[in-house]
Amino acid sequence: MLPTLIPQSSMLFHILFLVAVAAALLEKAPNAGPDGPVLTSNDLGLSFKAAFSSAITPFNVSVDEAFLNMTVLKASLTRFVDDTPGQPEFTDGPPKRVVQNIASFWTSEYSWRRVETDMNSRFRQFTTVVSVPHTSFNDTPIPLHFVHHRSPRADAIPLLFLHGWPGSFLEVEPPHRLAHQPSQRQPARLPPGMGAKVMGAAFDALMREKLGYHRYVIQGGDFGALIARVMAIAHPDGVAALHSYFWVMNPAQADLERYITGAATAEERGFIEANQRFDHALWPTFGTLSALRPRKLAAALADSPVGLAVWIYDLLRPVTWGDADRVWTPERVVTWAMMQWIPGVYATLALAEYFAQEGLLSTAGFDVFPYVTQPVAISEFPLDIWYGLPLDWAQRRGNVQMRLVHDRGGHFPTLDAPDLVLADLWAFLGSGSIRGLR
Ligand SMILES: *[C@@H]1O[C@H](CO)[C@@H](O)[C@H](O)[C@H]1NC(C)=O
Ligand SMILES: *[C@@H]1O[C@H](CO)[C@@H](O)[C@H](O)[C@H]1NC(C)=O
Repeated sequence: MLPTLIPQSSMLFHILFLVAVAAALLEKAPNAGPDGPVLTSNDLGLSFKAAFSSAITPFNVSVDEAFLNMTVLKASLTRFVDDTPGQPEFTDGPPKRVVQNIASFWTSEYSWRRVETDMNSRFRQFTTVVSVPHTSFNDTPIPLHFVHHRSPRADAIPLLFLHGWPGSFLEVEPPHRLAHQPSQRQPARLPPGMGAKVMGAAFDALMREKLGYHRYVIQGGDFGALIARVMAIAHPDGVAALHSYFWVMNPAQADLERYITGAATAEERGFIEANQRFDHALWPTFGTLSALRPRKLAAALADSPVGLAVWIYDLLRPVTWGDADRVWTPERVVTWAMMQWIPGVYATLALAEYFAQEGLLSTAGFDVFPYVTQPVAISEFPLDIWYGLPLDWAQRRGNVQMRLVHDRGGHFPTLDAPDLVLADLWAFLGSGSIRGLR
């Protein structure tokens, strides 16, 4: 079933991408500057040039040359695992040819400098520092790296885009390219130990205190969508509405009983089975592992760029619509790996650990999210784990006003169905029904 879309208006959006800047906890007092203390790359142990103060400072990515040389050297020294004779490819991980292909592309063709230049020319990036006094972080300054594109229109809707893992602000690039007029912002990863509540408080402080938006809409999938739900509940004054393409939740006991007795509809059966496949096959191989032993995983993945790229590729390939190798070209695989590799992998691998500590994730799944009262639109894509979630079930967890069900697209639909993501956003917000956004 495809939704009927409201014709697009010419309204423009501010799009905000946020990532945390990977940062070691500070061991010494930062230097003081005219805008208060300044945190530098040295203070934070970063492999790129950056300075963070309470001012909003324009920023471009410029990764240290020695770090890039070390990365390519490591890629060139990759040790490969032989295939098992007679075993079909991808049975228990990617085959040797795939790993070799990534390693050889990385060593002989890939140019981070080209990617970096392109990124800097397209995304207007900034750094700043926020504080979130009413959270577990108290007075710890939180450095943020973000992309901010301001619409020329006075009536534009401020939009905070939250990416997922192992994504980055690059996730939003395809739909952004499709919008007539660019508008955005970008990323930063936070000190180790930060869960959704602290991130949410930091992003709300950025939107309202730093950028001066009164109220805003959040869009996101994957971990970004989980953070968005936490933000909507914790910051009702700031968050006006939510467009989620990951409105994940578990079926209720009564739903499972109807399933077992054969009373469930075809759609409900499809949803319950996808949910069970996720709980039994997909989540344990990365979620449980990341939640329980992220440091163990990081010891290997922080040392092998190709190992990290393969880890990411193997997660994304099965949830990509169409020909996954057209979406996951060696160039994109390596760039996505670089976006994790450059800041370091531990803090983001440990996301599942921090979320679990906050009670947001557990082996029982995703049922711990409280009810979101703000207007919500959900977009369902066939290769996602919660595809087919019926509207009345979705409404148990929030004020879901619009359900947009698609016949193509995967878990990162901004990559394989960017036109649909954009159209859904227009369908939800284009009519101007969300009030009080100025
Ligand atoms: C990085 O490698 C290039 C090419 O081999 C070399 O010219 C350059 O001096 C190296 N830079 C650093 C900082 O090691
Ligand atoms: C970043 O790079 C872009 C394009 O390469 C340039 O226009 C801009 O001035 C640079 N910004 C900073 C803060 O260096």
